[in-house]
Amino acid sequence: MAKMSVLLGFFVGFVLLGLVSSRNFEELYQPSWALDHFTQEGDTLKLKLDNYSGAGFASKSKYMFGKVSMQIKLVEGDSAGTVTAFYVSVIHMSSDGPNHNEFDFEFLGNTTGEPYLIQTNVYVNGVGNREQRMDLWFDPTKDFHTYSVLWNQRQVVFLVDETPVRVHTNLEHKGIPFPKDQPMGVYSSIWNADDWATQGGRIKTDWSHAPFLASYKGFEIDACECPVSVAAVDNAKKCSSSAEKRYWWDEPTMSELSLHQNHQLLWVRANHLIYDYCADAARFPVTPTECVHHRH
Ligand SMILES: *[C@@H]1O[C@H](CO)[C@@H](O)[C@H](O)[C@H]1NC(C)=O
Ligand SMILES: *[C@@H]1O[C@H](CO)[C@@H](O)[C@H](O)[C@H]1NC(C)=O
Repeated sequence: MAKMSVLLGFFVGFVLLGLVSSRNFEELYQPSWALDHFTQEGDTLKLKLDNYSGAGFASKSKYMFGKVSMQIKLVEGDSAGTVTAFYVSVIHMSSDGPNHNEFDFEFLGNTTGEPYLIQTNVYVNGVGNREQRMDLWFDPTKDFHTYSVLWNQRQVVFLVDETPVRVHTNLEHKGIPFPKDQPMGVYSSIWNADDWATQGGRIKTDWSHAPFLASYKGFEIDACECPVSVAAVDNAKKCSSSAEKRYWWDEPTMSELSLHQNHQLLWVRANHLIYDYCADAARFPVTPTECVHHRH
């Protein structure tokens, strides 16, 4: 009963306050676990991690191609041991099924005053191990910043405030699989990962600093929606550009980064990249094939 009223309060609150934001949370997403770890203040949704639970939400629909964005303000103060994630995935919980495709942003917390890291990863056909890590050119705990994934038939682009921080290019012509055959959902969550997240797992979560709160607003999904009730082939047809209809993400200018974006990516990599699996010869004695061909 208590749970029910929390649930009702949550949705009623969102319906009313959603009017002020461009797309409200409730229109696009639903909590997927730990509903009692969601709170809402004005147009801001907060997910709470404490010693009982983290929390997560999922898009109501799945999509094939387009752009997904949300504004996130990460856990303030001591966030060591915590991970906040924003990801686009074929399935919900990370598991390594053969068809599992996923594009991940994971925000790795730190002790007070030490930098958050962003870890990105790309899973194709169930295989991940494509981690990159970087720090940021701002403090992501002080203000909201926009994190986006752009996904089309040619590339997957990870963006921070519209600056590309990673590109995964379609290299199917080199025989390398590219994730473009399945609708994907959009997910976010916060959880305890103090076995690995902060300084290699050496710094544990200090529960005396709980609750850890990640804040969200500005939810945007500009993508081709794939209703579950529609057969996969029909969704794939619907979401491909054709002579009659052309999606903006299939425009030639979207098939690769612009010159300006290329410069931005080079700047990010020169100044903020900390780890790139492509350069980890100890882990990959044979350079992964896509690394040989990727320009970045
Ligand atoms: C969680 O933390 C609170 C406050 O520190 C404490 O009272 C409680 O016993 C803890 N619960 C668990 C399951 O550890
Ligand atoms: C945390 O801070 C330390 C010290 O500045 C840094 O080496 C590390 O990369 C930071 N981030 C994480 C997630 O450990």
